[in-house]
Amino acid sequence: MKLKIRSLLQHLGLVLIFIGTASCSVDENLELSSPDAKLHLQLSLNQNGEIYYQLDGFQNQLINPSKLGLILKDDDSFSHSFKLIKTETSKKDEVWQAVWGENINIQNNYEQLSVSLENAKGKKMNLFFKLFNDGLAFRYEIPKQEGINEIHLMNEITEFNFAKEATAWSIPANFESYEMLYRTSQLSEVKDANTPLTFRTETGIHMSVHEANLTDYAGMTLKQVEGTSFSCNLVPWPDGVKVKANKTLLSPWRTITITKDAAQLIESNLILNLNEACRLENTSWIEPMKYIGIWWGMHLGVETWTMGPKHGATTSNMKKYIDFAAGNNIQAVLAEGWNTGWENWGKPKAFDQVTPYDDFDFEEIVTYTNKKGIELIGHHETGGDIYFYEDQMEKAMKKLHDAGIRSLKTGYAGPIPQGHFHHGQRMVQHYRKVLETAAKYQIMVNAHEPIKATGIRRTYPNMMAREGARGMEWNGWSEGNPPEHHVMLPFTRCLGGPLDYTPGTFDILYQNRKTYTKWNSNDKGNSRVNTTLAKQLAMWICLYSPVQMASDLIDNYKGQAAFQFFRNLPSKWEKSKVLAAEVGDFYAVARKNSDNWYIGTMTDEKSRTLSLDLSFLKSGKRYQATFYADNDNTSLDKNPTAISISSAEVNSDTVLKIKMAAGGGQAIELIAIN
Ligand code: NOJ
Ligand code: CA
Repeated sequence: MKLKIRSLLQHLGLVLIFIGTASCSVDENLELSSPDAKLHLQLSLNQNGEIYYQLDGFQNQLINPSKLGLILKDDDSFSHSFKLIKTETSKKDEVWQAVWGENINIQNNYEQLSVSLENAKGKKMNLFFKLFNDGLAFRYEIPKQEGINEIHLMNEITEFNFAKEATAWSIPANFESYEMLYRTSQLSEVKDANTPLTFRTETGIHMSVHEANLTDYAGMTLKQVEGTSFSCNLVPWPDGVKVKANKTLLSPWRTITITKDAAQLIESNLILNLNEACRLENTSWIEPMKYIGIWWGMHLGVETWTMGPKHGATTSNMKKYIDFAAGNNIQAVLAEGWNTGWENWGKPKAFDQVTPYDDFDFEEIVTYTNKKGIELIGHHETGGDIYFYEDQMEKAMKKLHDAGIRSLKTGYAGPIPQGHFHHGQRMVQHYRKVLETAAKYQIMVNAHEPIKATGIRRTYPNMMAREGARGMEWNGWSEGNPPEHHVMLPFTRCLGGPLDYTPGTFDILYQNRKTYTKWNSNDKGNSRVNTTLAKQLAMWICLYSPVQMASDLIDNYKGQAAFQFFRNLPSKWEKSKVLAAEVGDFYAVARKNSDNWYIGTMTDEKSRTLSLDLSFLKSGKRYQATFYADNDNTSLDKNPTAISISSAEVNSDTVLKIKMAAGGGQAIELIAIN
């Protein structure tokens, strides 16, 4: 190994210039292997004192030497002329329990290398590397020290020089939104990207670049340098500074999840493991739940957020939704357009998150939900005006808390004042402030137009779900999301954390919508949902969220046998297992609740048959399976709602043949019999 490093260093013209003071020898200090010894990290300083990392694994060079460093305002001394002061290794192998999630028991097993550097001005910078069996993470720290006060980070140099061409799935880098369709391309064709950026090499290695624990820093996008080499491009403040800090700076973890197949990419807990343990002492008030709401009617253009003849959130309409929830094993009801200000959307200080419209009797509705054993979900649209919201936030959250409401959907549909970007540091601070204030009032948050998910739910388990993807709403007023979108989301956006996609449209071709008012400029009159009905059910399993919505108008569920699947669906899971997966093609996952399992399968625009081996079931146990499946009459274009519901007994020896129509899927419930 020593020889190999030396020749590599010579080859690259790299020279080690200082020997660490830690107990281990230098050769050991500057390389690190994953616990299973399949991934190998090497660090080196070149003649200019620039620091590089590289990675190989699974018998492949995965990342070629890639530079690390920071550029501060008028000060590039954190990017070169480094001396190595000290290195230290440590390791961990523990299992921790999540408050909720796809899995409750999570293994955290890594080897860590900490590197202390000193620059030519005598200033210190630390780098921390963690190598897991399924990937690499690293972060920067400028520790507290003499002579460092106000820090203005102008650029984080971080390079990702991927060694091989690959097939990539990405959305373009964007400082304001993640609501885009995924592109499939060669990795070398990606000019820039938001993260997670996922790709597969020719040898089948899957990699995904993202970040974990994004706290008080700017969001990271990726920018192509050349070929398959990328560098970090942080979202700036209006004045061009990327990150502002006082005395010390700690970056999020830069993460590269690396697995041998697509299934393991989804089963990875790397992002969660890189976040800090739960900070809330009492989490008993935090509970996953299913919900419906006054929502889709507005997106379909048949109801309005504003008060008027078509106002959705009226007292009487809410009561209908509350009754429906009570009769269908649904815990909560969302009301959008309950408060004054929607008529001013787009103007400063538009939204009042405290005052209800006259036809929404807040007290009466709260009393009614209590009587029916249902919960109300609050809604705070801000239109992007964070300053106004920050002024009202305490009052608005207290109002919810005092009324016994413990769930809140937030929204930022509009530009942020003063030239801030949605994904810049000021907004990261804002989203965190909302989360912490919500925790104080025992409120669970579901954020739309959010900052991306980076595993903060571990530290603040009241951070339930978020949007941050092209969700269901786009089907209401655009050409809609194509079938392959749903089999890309689990491997990209969803790797960051739970997605409030809001599946569950039963009136897929909007046949029950007789007339509507066009309200969105993306609407070309060709909107529809591009899936079969069975796939809508499957998405409730496949697109994980602790708050899962049945998003259609309740009238479209009445008398529908397929709605039984949602009625029965649990919202808490102990364990999840990916059964079949190829990025952009298909996905099948099983989730366990008590002794029962629920399976969702989805395909892209191609019809497909999957073989699902049920050997993960407890051997000797019998299960009553109910299948909600596409059938011979199902056609994405002409007959997307054709569905067959059947049952059979299965056990751990069973191999299921899952037939899915183009744009289709299947949902299966397995109830333990003995
Ligand atoms: C965009 C959100 O994604 C959507 O769910 C919401 O209905 C509208 N903004 C209005 O708040
Ligand atoms: Ca949105």
